[in-house]
Amino acid sequence: MLQATHHSLAAFPLDRWWVAGFSWELKDKPLARTLLSRAVVLYRTPDGVVAALEDRCCHKELPLSCGVIEARGLRCGYHGLLFNTEGKCIEVPGQERIPDRARVPSYPLRERDQILWIWIGSNPDSQPDTEPPSYPVHNDPRYKFGGDSFHYDAPYQLIHDNLLDLSHLGYVHAKTIGGNPSLHMNAVVKVEGSGDHVRVVRLMPNSSPPPTYSAAWPFGTPGIDRWQEIDFKVSHVEIWTGAMDVGSGDLSDPKREGFHMRGFHGVTPETATSAHYFWTIATNPHPDKQDVTQLVVNQTAQTFEEDKVLIENQWQNQCRFPVRAQIDIHVDAGPNRARRVIERLVSGAVPK
Ligand code: FES
Ligand SMILES: [Fe+2]
Repeated sequence: MLQATHHSLAAFPLDRWWVAGFSWELKDKPLARTLLSRAVVLYRTPDGVVAALEDRCCHKELPLSCGVIEARGLRCGYHGLLFNTEGKCIEVPGQERIPDRARVPSYPLRERDQILWIWIGSNPDSQPDTEPPSYPVHNDPRYKFGGDSFHYDAPYQLIHDNLLDLSHLGYVHAKTIGGNPSLHMNAVVKVEGSGDHVRVVRLMPNSSPPPTYSAAWPFGTPGIDRWQEIDFKVSHVEIWTGAMDVGSGDLSDPKREGFHMRGFHGVTPETATSAHYFWTIATNPHPDKQDVTQLVVNQTAQTFEEDKVLIENQWQNQCRFPVRAQIDIHVDAGPNRARRVIERLVSGAVPK
């Protein structure tokens, strides 16, 4: 496996909710997924209950994800031991007695707003002290959304860096949500936050609409007032971008109209050097363009494929030049702040 020595690796805060996937990924088959370096099997019972177990049968260690879902739990695909949603073995075929130690570790798994949240914990006593985050956009009748799960051969913080620095749009995403590179690099940017939260706001008044915007929304002026609001919340990043006709509203009004793209970005480490990227994009279809959601979702998928190629290339190169330092420029303020939050959480320090 590729290793780089100059970047801090394997640093993830475990005692919190992380995104494990989306509701629609759990149907009638178990799903194997490594999350925060733990091999986990996710499944949904026929009654609709979701569960997460260690993906290892305690008999002869076949992955439980090779088994089948039944009404009472997950049955191992080798000798048929049946495990309930808490990981307790409730049947040994051909044998009355169930050994006390016949159980596998389970992890709290919750489903909220179509997002699956898992609590891995740094030790067996670490249990959730809160409900998982809500994401009301998925239930908001103004919006329609679609999304996907991507796998990255790169550490998760490189994805944070990318999402917190949207200056890259002009150079990387010219075909979809980009626009004039120099306008992006010169956008008015504000970086703030407190506790574990980092917020980056970028405004681009009177700029030109990029291809996705023009295709999705009939703007009434040649130029558009464009915004990007990025909220980093450690387990995920919420990004509200959009635009309206020049001068038609206040860019700081939370109820502003115009074309909206609301992104959910669940970034969960798989291992120290790989990550899962669970994303959705929601838009508010214009009355004259009700069928535009699929176009926005498809173009977003294309955009995120571009990021994936870029970030995996970046990581390969960081591994090729393992002892070189990087420089900082103005666009790094948001990403650097998020990195400091993670560093603090991993070290266990209390926020000031
Ligand atoms: S390995 Fe699972 S039942 Fe034997
Ligand atoms: Fe991007």
